Amino acid sequence: MNIKFKLIQYIIVIIMFMACTDNHNEKTITYSKIDSINEKVDSLIKIMTLKEKIGQMNQYNGFWDVTGPVPDNGDAEIKYEHLKNGLVGSMLSVRGTKAVRAVQKIAIEESRLGIPLIIGFDVIHGYKTLSPIPLAEAASWDLEAIEKSAQVAAAEASAAGINWTFAPMVDISRDPRWGRVMEGAGEDPFLGSKIAVARVKGFQGDDLSAVNTIAACAKHFAAYGFSEAGKEYNTVDIGNSTLHNIVLPPFKAAVNADVKTLMNAFNEHDGVPATGNEYLLRNILKDKWDFKGFVITDWASIKEMVVWGYTKDKRDAAKMAALAGSDMDMESHIYVSELEQLVKDGVIDEKIIDEAASRILAVKFELGLFDDPYRYCDEAREKEVVNNPEHLDAVLDMAKKSIVLLKNENDLLPLKKEGQNIVLIGALANEKNSPLGSWRIASKDNTGVSVLEGMQNYKGNNLVYKKGADVTVGDTQFVDELTINTTDKSEFKDAIDAAKKADVVVMVLGEHGFQSGEARSRTDIDLPGVQQELLEEVYKINKNIVLVLNNGRPLSITWADKHIPAILETWQLGTQAGHAVAQVLYGDYNPSGKLPMTFPRNVGQIPIYYNHKNTGRPVRDAYNPDLVFWSHYSDVENTPLYPFGYGLSYTTFKYENLALEKTVFSINENINLSIDITNTGKMTGKEVVQLYIRDLVASTTRPVKELKGFELIELQVGETKTVNFVLNKASLGFYSNQGDFITEPGEFEIFVGGNSNTTLNTRFELK
Ligand code: NOJ
Repeated sequence: MNIKFKLIQYIIVIIMFMACTDNHNEKTITYSKIDSINEKVDSLIKIMTLKEKIGQMNQYNGFWDVTGPVPDNGDAEIKYEHLKNGLVGSMLSVRGTKAVRAVQKIAIEESRLGIPLIIGFDVIHGYKTLSPIPLAEAASWDLEAIEKSAQVAAAEASAAGINWTFAPMVDISRDPRWGRVMEGAGEDPFLGSKIAVARVKGFQGDDLSAVNTIAACAKHFAAYGFSEAGKEYNTVDIGNSTLHNIVLPPFKAAVNADVKTLMNAFNEHDGVPATGNEYLLRNILKDKWDFKGFVITDWASIKEMVVWGYTKDKRDAAKMAALAGSDMDMESHIYVSELEQLVKDGVIDEKIIDEAASRILAVKFELGLFDDPYRYCDEAREKEVVNNPEHLDAVLDMAKKSIVLLKNENDLLPLKKEGQNIVLIGALANEKNSPLGSWRIASKDNTGVSVLEGMQNYKGNNLVYKKGADVTVGDTQFVDELTINTTDKSEFKDAIDAAKKADVVVMVLGEHGFQSGEARSRTDIDLPGVQQELLEEVYKINKNIVLVLNNGRPLSITWADKHIPAILETWQLGTQAGHAVAQVLYGDYNPSGKLPMTFPRNVGQIPIYYNHKNTGRPVRDAYNPDLVFWSHYSDVENTPLYPFGYGLSYTTFKYENLALEKTVFSINENINLSIDITNTGKMTGKEVVQLYIRDLVASTTRPVKELKGFELIELQVGETKTVNFVLNKASLGFYSNQGDFITEPGEFEIFVGGNSNTTLNTRFELK
């Protein structure tokens, strides 16, 4: 280990900096014991040149994978020069111990102070072994399993040299046209907050300096999920009430859970790009919430402020971003080129630079990078941990828990294990790539288990596979659908002929994994390509169809819901996808997932979400039912196809005895309630018991329902369990349109049930 590094490592170092030159031999160093990270950071900041401090605020993409537009000045030589000169604080998308060691070595051995790099990567739902996409995981409502899944991801990523993930994405979204809904936890801020905390805990563990934990990054701050019309990178226009009550809670929950970093967003809020948004970054995040970590911009988003027309040039963009509180520049290459002069010209106070660099250095200290910059570069550990077979069990467990049973007429599911002729149809049934989703940079192509492979494990039936039709043609990764949707129906006949003789037809249809994700917005969320036609053709000759959906967003499948007897939502389930689907199809696992996002009847209903406002005209006029003057569409019902929180089981549950200890409570009292749930079916099953409230009258209008609690329980056949919930001042309050949290006296309604459409309710008054 090099000498200058050791000085920092033992942190008995206070360096009295004599001459601020590029030759570290000219330093005079004295030692004394330093305890806290803040002191370590302060002592380091004191010896850093302005340039070096700005260098900490600079992040470059590695030389291999690209996850955004490539900057013209992004060539390897400049990056190498900057690394040597201590002008890089972090690299992203460098992976594998060898590559990470190589870049780290340059920073450590060739730069003046040898400050280690923090290595970021999009570890979204796993590194090589992949869990289900985050939206699917959210459908489990199983916080323990979600935390475990993030732990597995952290273990593999950290073994491959990575110490920082750009996850979790905690953007709430109500728009399934937006391709990135696959990366979030859906539409609800309460569920979203719980999942944000589970993921942060999973990645960061209890000890960030442990070698198998990594820093998390709550993104995208803020309101990216409200991109207008679901169009990627579009403008956002939401009011304060939505900002504070819907968008911000999961970020706040992540901050309270000690998330180390936040990433800002590509969108604007109230006319100000998030990257330069002082209100969001300083007023709310750093001041009000007292966030101690650092903020990274999204890819090139400083530069894009010029394109937005918010800043006139790069210099202005650097100024606005730094003043607003964006601490690290991802791939704009602007901090490194502009900030020094801005400080010298007195436009930016050096304290702003010190603050940003200090925040970044503090996280590096917490990660233990100053103790050993190569601690994540142990090749033996990489071999042992990455793709460890034990991880397969964890992601299989998560995959099964993520599946949602949407329809099951006449108990068509589970399938009988013997004596059946099963015909499996759909290109996606034979896909080993699509189940991996679109965020799978490190994992090898075609490493997912296909549904066909999963079903082949059940040998008691006669299984025939027919493709029927492709979803898309060719490589879908960086290509728009316009050019790749297939129109080829030449294999329909083969599939239909086979289906004629089947006892049950299983059709795996939906989106390819690359059809959702970043820059994958769609205006049409039906089954892509000719799949709908294929479904209808097969249905004409055999109605015993189980539709297995693959998708990264809610789809509009109104026809299927009307005609197809059994529908299973299986998203993109990761490495073990096919095994999970097969186990659920055959009843070796009883599905218990619940939708984290509403499924619309058609795309025109979007945005459609359960926690909407009542409006002044929510129902048809009782006295003049023929009149049209109420809040509705004239061509489709107001209700969604499947509501938030919805999902069936192979068994059934009865809810009864919703009990409140009294009906009037004072504002500081806890409100205890209980409900009995009985398994009334024929199989052991799990149920997510959900509690919603409605604040009937308030100083700003409140949603018709708001999720305020849930519990995942398991019940044997005939078993009854009592679930207790506690509400309090915090759960009954809300943010005013000024951003102040208030709890107002008045009447509240409580609903409990197995989805957001539940009507089982009671009331109480808060005095
Ligand atoms: C852009 C995405 O918006 C962000 O979520 C991601 O982490 C970065 N690219 C880095 O890949």
